[in-house]
Amino acid sequence: MKLTYISVALAVAPALALLADAYHEWRAPVEGQVRGPCPMLNTLANHGFMPRDGKNINKKMAIDVLNKALNWDETAVNDLYDFAQPTNPAPNATSFDLNHLTTHNILEHDGSLSRMDSRFGPADVFDEATWNETMQYFTGSTIDLAKASRARTARVVASASTNPDFTLPQVGANFIYGESAAFQFVFGEWDLNATDPKNMVHTPTDLVEYFFRNERLPYELGWKRPVNRLSLALLTKLVMAMKDITIKQMGGEDA
Ligand code: HEM
Ligand SMILES: *[C@@H]1O[C@H](CO)[C@@H](O)[C@H](O)[C@H]1NC(C)=O
Ligand SMILES: *[C@@H]1O[C@H](CO)[C@@H](O)[C@H](O)[C@H]1NC(C)=O
Ligand SMILES: *[C@@H]1O[C@H](CO)[C@@H](O)[C@H](O)[C@H]1NC(C)=O
Repeated sequence: MKLTYISVALAVAPALALLADAYHEWRAPVEGQVRGPCPMLNTLANHGFMPRDGKNINKKMAIDVLNKALNWDETAVNDLYDFAQPTNPAPNATSFDLNHLTTHNILEHDGSLSRMDSRFGPADVFDEATWNETMQYFTGSTIDLAKASRARTARVVASASTNPDFTLPQVGANFIYGESAAFQFVFGEWDLNATDPKNMVHTPTDLVEYFFRNERLPYELGWKRPVNRLSLALLTKLVMAMKDITIKQMGGEDA
């Protein structure tokens, strides 16, 4: 009997592995599947971690998927989800679709790293010209918090000086640092005890470039699910460090 179980298990295991692969296989969205302004939520839908149609994402799903794919703690996902919920125009909705997130100035904001301002064009799709502006600051093989902060400021300044409709409401003004912290958390190497805060994380530029351009997890470049867990406390620490560095940079310091 035991032998039979073992041989069945051996026969079934590769099939299960194949199923798992198919489940997380990257596929570009097709007609009827919606995407939005968040490169990571789009990416997770492209891999089938989120529903491939980009629709009906509820809080439990967001918490489960971000844990499974990226090692995000519920504390980091809760608030983020709550900010996104009102983008669904349906009364009392308990889920959202990725394209709901595109509504200007709920969460979607001007001065994005990789998207046009809504005044100039679609604010939800990757825009190479905008991304090229950002990449001017992502020089060298890794991005530290100083480079990330300079890029973040530069895009806001560029939008503010060229877009007559430029706005950055309070939520957006905080959210921009959270977004930059988010990609560094996911793709970076951590040194939480670094004496200089700008060295808390170093993020391989090629992983970041690949992710933004392809909306795909850079497995083929050797990336794996982060070993650190992202709690709200850690996210806040990183956001505060970026804000602090930004203030110093604006004051002309070589931070
Ligand atoms: C429930 C979870 C999430 C929600 C509701 C959400 C929502 C959004 C929204 C609405 C934007 C557009 C802001 C803009 O106008 O640029 C955005 C941008 C962004 N998000 Fe997410 N997001 C989530 C999770 C994540 C995660 C896990 C990451 C990890 C890398 C991430 C990384 C980013 C980045 C880097 C941007 C900036 C894109 C740019 O500036 O071009 N997000 N997110
Ligand atoms: C939404 O919730 C409010 C408050 O609970 C309730 O009065 C209202 O009837 C609900 N609307 C719909 C469309 O379910
Ligand atoms: C972005 O930069 C790349 C590489 O420098 C260049 O080939 C491409 O034409 C630029 N794209 C736009 C839209 O400016
Ligand atoms: C960072 O410092 C703390 C407290 O000093 C220590 O417990 C921890 O092991 C250190 N972590 C690393 C990665 O060095």
